[in-house]
Amino acid sequence: MHKVTVALDYANLSNAKLLVSQLNPQYCNLKIGKELFTATGPALIEYFHSLNFKVFLDLKFHDIPSTVKKACEAASQLGIWMLNVHASGGKSMMEAALEGVNKSKQSPLLIAVTVLTSMNQKSLNEIGVSRDLEDQILYLAKLTEESGLHGIVCSPKDLYFLKNHFSPSFLFVTPGIRMKDNIANDQIRTMTPLEAVQAGSSHLVIGRPITQSKEPSKTLEKIYFEINQA
Ligand code: C5P
Repeated sequence: MHKVTVALDYANLSNAKLLVSQLNPQYCNLKIGKELFTATGPALIEYFHSLNFKVFLDLKFHDIPSTVKKACEAASQLGIWMLNVHASGGKSMMEAALEGVNKSKQSPLLIAVTVLTSMNQKSLNEIGVSRDLEDQILYLAKLTEESGLHGIVCSPKDLYFLKNHFSPSFLFVTPGIRMKDNIANDQIRTMTPLEAVQAGSSHLVIGRPITQSKEPSKTLEKIYFEINQA
């Protein structure tokens, strides 16, 4: 069964807790990013664990290998479900990250961000990358697999050129999900939950369509049953 991963893009503890109090851990995991984690720290993860939620800690580490290894080890000791790094940190950094993760008893899934979806061909060229955007995404995704990581974060719209190049167990974690009647916000290339699963997404990351819904629990339930329909 596919669970939804709800992105908790909040600046403070009370708003995050209020939303989570309306969600059922049978239907979703939670994603905590840089803003909320920096504001609240590990206590929030412990709190969500006590409510039986699994946590994806979306801190996108990118640094020298030894620093990333220690950061991944420290994060893994919090008992999280999933963690990520930037693939552009290179193979030695990703391998070090994996070593860090594997030092903890219950090692989390480790995935990588290839090219940020906020980047386009122009911004890629700006940092000295002359490859086509899609080629660069595929290149970094392959490097991620070669480094032994469990998968990547990508737009669901990229699955058509990625999916066939990887083993069936490689994970594709996809934000950029919108229901037909949702506004896109700042997401440019979106898919519905069912379309993304049908295209091969392993885990859907959904923020505002749930967090800004008038009835978050009903919206979550609706998506859960939509993506798990036979
Ligand atoms: O509100 P929305 O559904 O757009 O939230 C998507 C979440 O996924 C946000 O936390 C955003 O930072 C994250 N994300 C993304 N695109 C990426 C990587 C992460 O939207 N490429």
